[in-house]
Amino acid sequence: MPHWVKVAVEGECPVGMLKGVMADGVPVVLANVEGSICALRDQCSHEDYPLSDGELEGNDVVCLYHGARFDACSGARKTLPAIRPVQSFPVEIRDGEIYVDVG
Ligand code: FES
Repeated sequence: MPHWVKVAVEGECPVGMLKGVMADGVPVVLANVEGSICALRDQCSHEDYPLSDGELEGNDVVCLYHGARFDACSGARKTLPAIRPVQSFPVEIRDGEIYVDVG
């Protein structure tokens, strides 16, 4: 069941940046990939550290801790040491505000 939560306004996540937010208790990392906002669970699938501590490189979220890479929009795992993907969430922009469906 959809559960849309307002997590930020657009200007808070500029192009090429990550931003960690909470969505009704769910940690979410927003990624601005060339102007499009994507959202993943803010928890690396390797050892659960926040992905928002890392960086966005092109389409990849790069974990600060051991360098695993994930697709910023699908959450697909790209490199070791992670072996599992990260959950992704639908995103909508409404009047300049960012909503994430964590349902
Ligand atoms: S916690 Fe992210 S790569 Fe280890």
